[in-house]
Amino acid sequence: MQDGRTTLSKFLIDTLDRKPGPEAASGLSALLIDVAASIKTIAAALTRGALGGQHGSAQSVNTHGEEQKKLDLVTNDIFLQHCEWDGLLAGMVSEEMDGVYAIPDAYPRGEYLLAFDPLDGSSNIDINGVVGSIFSVLKRAPDESHAADEASFLRPGREQVAAGYAIYGPSTMLVLSVGNGTHGFTLERDVGNFVLTHSDIRIPEDSCEFAINASNERFWEPPVRRYVQECKDGRTGCRAQDFNMRWIASMVAEVHRILMRGGVFMYPRDFKTPAMEGRLRLLYEANPMSFIVEQAGGLSITGRERILDMKARALHQRVPVILGSRNEVARIHRYHGEYDRGEDKPFTSPLFNERSLFLPETPA
Ligand code: AHG
Ligand code: MN
Ligand code: MN
Repeated sequence: MQDGRTTLSKFLIDTLDRKPGPEAASGLSALLIDVAASIKTIAAALTRGALGGQHGSAQSVNTHGEEQKKLDLVTNDIFLQHCEWDGLLAGMVSEEMDGVYAIPDAYPRGEYLLAFDPLDGSSNIDINGVVGSIFSVLKRAPDESHAADEASFLRPGREQVAAGYAIYGPSTMLVLSVGNGTHGFTLERDVGNFVLTHSDIRIPEDSCEFAINASNERFWEPPVRRYVQECKDGRTGCRAQDFNMRWIASMVAEVHRILMRGGVFMYPRDFKTPAMEGRLRLLYEANPMSFIVEQAGGLSITGRERILDMKARALHQRVPVILGSRNEVARIHRYHGEYDRGEDKPFTSPLFNERSLFLPETPA
């Protein structure tokens, strides 16, 4: 007897295993159930907060030179433990591990590759703010028989067979795509089930809300400065409407808001650290989020190219990310093109345009 609700396992069996397609009966649904189990375990650990004894620094740095929190390592281990044994994976990559994690000899190997950011926005932990986890699933090339290595993972994001994130907020949600739209599941904590609550999420095409770390403004490229300035100019500027701004310092929380009500998220190319092409990592942040956003009708670009078409060069490669409502992202893409072709017209500050309160007095 059905109770009319769709649990994650029912959704996956209906969507993957009972439909003809390359991932039917391939084990992908079982792998995603194991990822969901990791997420439930992480949600339980996070809920205990400081009482869990896992707050604070781990006194170590990761491959990016960033200080690791104890919870960065704990959540990384939770993913490994839940996913290494099932015989479905050939290897794993994480923000918190330098190289490819090989499946231990005790377990069988499979055809899938899992890349993840176990704890996104981990600077929010100490302030009891929203954090998340992000994951991406690729399938090994059919002709690849050797143990999974770095090259196995260096594939364009459009080849992902599944991608998703968990958001640990007032409720825990899993948002997922296996290539047929983007769907959201809410964790029913007392039962332990993810229940489909947001079917086929669509990002509004237009929006007047943007998210960017404005403290980096002096390092941005001109097209991004132009876009943000025009938003800030509001009703009296060339966009002729007021815009709102948000910054949560967790890509998961920003993308979730955009899926729910539209908007643009930008961590653009900047010149703060010239050696870095961007802040966010391609394989386990930008690629899965781009897949989710495009499956919900949005766009995701570096500024100049579609993220899902990029061929990764390194496991921990960083990229600029601009994603969200399609008409806004298309506009930012146009601004980059105009700038690169030298067609960028200087924009006027609203302080000095014809509707300004600060119009210079005209001589009598
Ligand atoms: P992580 O905690 O996995 O390192 O990721 C944090 C990322 C991203 O989620 C967020 O948008 C951004 O870094 C925040 O950057 P700022 O510190 O510049 O706010
Ligand atoms: Mn992250
Ligand atoms: Mn992280």
